[in-house]
Amino acid sequence: MNYKQAIEHPIFKIICEAAETLNVNSYVIGGFVRDFILNRGDAKDIDVVAIGDGIQLAKQVAKSLPNNPKVKVFKTYGTAMLRYSDIEIEFVGARKESYTKDSRNPAIENGSLEDDQNRRDFTINALALSLNKSTYGDLLDPFKGIGDLENKIIRTPLNPDITYSDDPLRMLRAVRFATQLHFKIESNSLEAITKNSHRIKIITKERIVTELHKILESNKPSIGFLLLEKTELLNYILPELTALKGIDEIEGQRHKDNFYHTLEVVDNISKHTDNLWLRWAALLHDIGKAPTKKFNKKVGWTFHGHEFEGSKMVYRLFKRLKMPLNDKMKFVQKMVFMSSRPIVLSEDIVTDSAVRRLIFDAGDYVDDLMTLCEADITTKNPKKFKKYHNNFKIVREKIIEVEERDHVRNFQPPITGEKIMETFGLKPSREIGIIKETIKEAILEGTIPNEYDAAYQLMLKEGERLGLKNIR
Ligand code: CTP
Repeated sequence: MNYKQAIEHPIFKIICEAAETLNVNSYVIGGFVRDFILNRGDAKDIDVVAIGDGIQLAKQVAKSLPNNPKVKVFKTYGTAMLRYSDIEIEFVGARKESYTKDSRNPAIENGSLEDDQNRRDFTINALALSLNKSTYGDLLDPFKGIGDLENKIIRTPLNPDITYSDDPLRMLRAVRFATQLHFKIESNSLEAITKNSHRIKIITKERIVTELHKILESNKPSIGFLLLEKTELLNYILPELTALKGIDEIEGQRHKDNFYHTLEVVDNISKHTDNLWLRWAALLHDIGKAPTKKFNKKVGWTFHGHEFEGSKMVYRLFKRLKMPLNDKMKFVQKMVFMSSRPIVLSEDIVTDSAVRRLIFDAGDYVDDLMTLCEADITTKNPKKFKKYHNNFKIVREKIIEVEERDHVRNFQPPITGEKIMETFGLKPSREIGIIKETIKEAILEGTIPNEYDAAYQLMLKEGERLGLKNIR
């Protein structure tokens, strides 16, 4: 492979010149090189390591660029960053690092390129390309990273115990890269991760969530969650999911393993949506099943109210992981809460009124909810599989038909509270609520159309029933 192609962009020549002026050697290293070799598209993040002062090099590069971009300096880390058109370049001086037991912040010493490559997380992330004039474009691969890329292996440059214990976030990064790239984590690494899994506790929640998002955004997220489970990391990060593991049997009655079922659902939904929050909903849709599980002699295993319990757990989980407690969280809660609704509906004859209620309750998210429910079909019985999918197809068609006719998606009551007050000469009172509710119910039930005249007549009738006088 001709690695010079990787550094064809004019920016690399500029870095080369700047380094020469300062009389330091420099290399492009890490994800940029890895992704070029893997042909993962144009990387916009470039990491440059200088054998000397990285911050000074960044400043020199900025001086040579036409728009003299600002250099952002991170003193504590000895790094500097600048933006050039849509590219972000991070500069760091080569270093030797040693970490303390309870923190990710390393004590830093200057080092050689090899020292710097040694301290990196994986062999595939330690590949460097020379930006020095005499060796421009040469690959420096002291740990056989290229071989690991070819064989699809995640391996650490040093003894994995040291690499992971130095920075426990790397345990999650290993899982994340394995998921994104469909690579295997080499067995010593896997063992070291399992041994050090408890050290994930020192990592900030934000960083953990960033990795979880990347796992969930992959095309087959189950790879990651199975690895998290195998290495016991999942216990520390999402114990709600490990609680779903296992099959209980009483008097010959068994329930399915809801952990593996959940992973199937997440993989299924990932084929149909890139919406990260809908994928989160798939991951969490059954978490309420662990605390609500009961055995009943007559009906076997039940999980009554697991959707409601699950939606409450979503809030606690988001809070614990310092995820946003905003409309995204509410969306996930809503999906979890409603996750059984279309199923119940499709098991029976699909009536217009049931569909109207579904549209009314799910609002703008009715399509997302259907996508979740279709992904939830994991039966291995081909007859049932076909039947459930067909039923959902009917539900989807009915949703379109009913919505076109009745417009209940963003329901606006055809009769306002003001109209009711005006008609009966009322001040704000509970009667208004009763009348409005009666009209809404009648529309959803289909006893009257979603239209003004019909609703007006019903208002008059209900007013009379409540003993109100029409003063108009
Ligand atoms: N790195 C490391 N340990 C970490 C994080 C990063 O050794 N905990 C090193 C790796 O060499 C990595 C480089 O720093 O390649 C840049 O890190 P980052 O930008 O976070 O990751 P990338 O490898 O570029 O991959 P991605 O952009 O997919 O996160």
